[in-house]
Amino acid sequence: MHLYGTQAIDEQGHLTIGGTDAVELAKEYGTPLFVYDIQLFRERAKAFQKTFEDEGLGYQVAYASKAFSSIAIYQVAAEENLSLDVVSGGELYTAIQAGFPTEKIHFHGNNKSEAELRMAFEEKIGCIVVDNFYEIDLLKKLSEELEQPMNILLRVTPGVEAHTHDYITTGQEDSKFGFDLKNGQADKAFKQTYGHSFLKLMGLHCHIGSQIFDTTGFQLAAEKLVGKMSNWEKDYGYRCPVLNLGGGFGIRYTEEDQPLEPAIYVRDMIRTVKKVSAAADFQLPEIWIEPGRSLVGDAGTTLYTVGSMKEVPGLRKYAAVDGGMSDNIRPALYGAKYTSLLANKANAKASEQYTIAGKLCESGDKLIEEAHLPTLEAGDILSVFCTGAYGYSMASNYNRIGRPAVVFVENGEHQLVVRRETNEDLITHDMSYQQKVKGK
Ligand code: LLP
Repeated sequence: MHLYGTQAIDEQGHLTIGGTDAVELAKEYGTPLFVYDIQLFRERAKAFQKTFEDEGLGYQVAYASKAFSSIAIYQVAAEENLSLDVVSGGELYTAIQAGFPTEKIHFHGNNKSEAELRMAFEEKIGCIVVDNFYEIDLLKKLSEELEQPMNILLRVTPGVEAHTHDYITTGQEDSKFGFDLKNGQADKAFKQTYGHSFLKLMGLHCHIGSQIFDTTGFQLAAEKLVGKMSNWEKDYGYRCPVLNLGGGFGIRYTEEDQPLEPAIYVRDMIRTVKKVSAAADFQLPEIWIEPGRSLVGDAGTTLYTVGSMKEVPGLRKYAAVDGGMSDNIRPALYGAKYTSLLANKANAKASEQYTIAGKLCESGDKLIEEAHLPTLEAGDILSVFCTGAYGYSMASNYNRIGRPAVVFVENGEHQLVVRRETNEDLITHDMSYQQKVKGK
C-alpha cells in the first residue's frame, strides 16, 4: 500500500495523518471528512520554490485555488509565500477574507464580469490574466474610468495540449480560453494593450492541460511563447518581462500514475526558457507557474463510514459509504481512479474485492470500481487517498446532502477549517411559496 506524505500506520493498526489518528478524527468530526496533510502542502510549495531559487530565476508560484478554495488554505498559502490564482469573484472574496496579500493574487477566467473586474481594481490585485477581446475593452474602460493601473498577462493557446502521458500539437486551437497564437489573435491583443496608459502588459500565459506526466509539452509551449515575446520586442521595441506556464503537474492517484518530482517539471521548464531566450537574444523573463493538484491533491484524504453491503452473486460485492459523488464527482465525471485503505484495520490482509459505492441516487455513484480490502463491516472507517484536489471544490448538494467538514492536520494537531453543512444550512436560501389567493 502506497502511503502519502505524513501518512503512517500506528501500533493499533490505525491510519495516521500528520501524527493524528484517522479513526479518532472520524469520531470527533464525523464522516465524510476531508483531512489535509498540511506538512505535505508546505513541502510541495517549498520544492517548487527551491528549484527556482537554485536556478537563480525571478519567479512566482501561484496556488491554483480552484483545486481547493477555503479561507484556511489561503492562509497557509500566504505563510508559504505563494501567490494565488483565483477564477471568480467568489474565490477572490474568500482570499480577501483570508487576509491574503492582494498584490500576489492573479485573476483568471474566460468571462469575468464587470463587477468581478471592479473588485479586482478595488482590491489592487497583482495581475489580471486577460482572456479575450471583450475583456480588453472592459479593462480599458474600467482602468480609464478609475484612473488606476493594472498589470495584465495575455492568455494564449499555444497549440500544445498535454494529457497525462501524451501531448498533441495543433495548428489552430479549439478552446474557449485565450488568444490563439498562430492565427494572429495574440498579435492583435498585444497591439491593443501594450503601451496603454493604465494597463501594464507584463507578458504571456498558457495552461496546456492537467495531470501531465512529462515535460515535453511544457518545453514546446515555453519555446513558442518566448519566441512570440522576443518577436514583439524586435518588432515593437516592447519587452514582456513575465512568462506564465500554468499548472498541470501530475500526481499519483494509483500505481498506474508515474509523476515526476515537482522540481523536475520546473527545472526542465527553466532550462528550456534559458536556452530559447539565449538563442533569441531575449532577456530571461520571470517564470510564473500555477500548480493546483500537485499542491493539494495527495495532501487530501477522505474518511467515510462503511454502511450497507450488497452482493450480486458471481458478479461483485458492493460496499456503500456515507458520501459519494456529492463530495467526489471525479470518478463519475472523468472515470477517475482512487486507492483506499481501511483506516481502522490498516494492517489487515486485503482478502476481498469490493466496489465502493456512494449513497446518492444514481447508479454511476461509485467511488472505486475495484478496491482490494479486508472483509468490511458496517462502521468501518474507509480512507480514500488523493482527494485533496477538485474534491471539495467540486462538491454539490445533490440529494440535499450537506458538504463534508474539512480538517487540517499537522504535527499531531488537528483543526476544523470548514464546518460540515447541516440540514439547516441546506435550506438557508430557500423561501416559502406565497400562495396566491384564488379569484383575486
Ligand atoms: N492554471 C489554469 C489556468 C488552469 O486552468 C488550471 C486548471 C490550473 C492552473 C491548475 O491545474 P492543476 O495544476 O490543478 O492541474 N476538474 C478537473 C481539473 C480541471 C483543471 C482546470 N484548470 C479534475 O478534477 O481533474
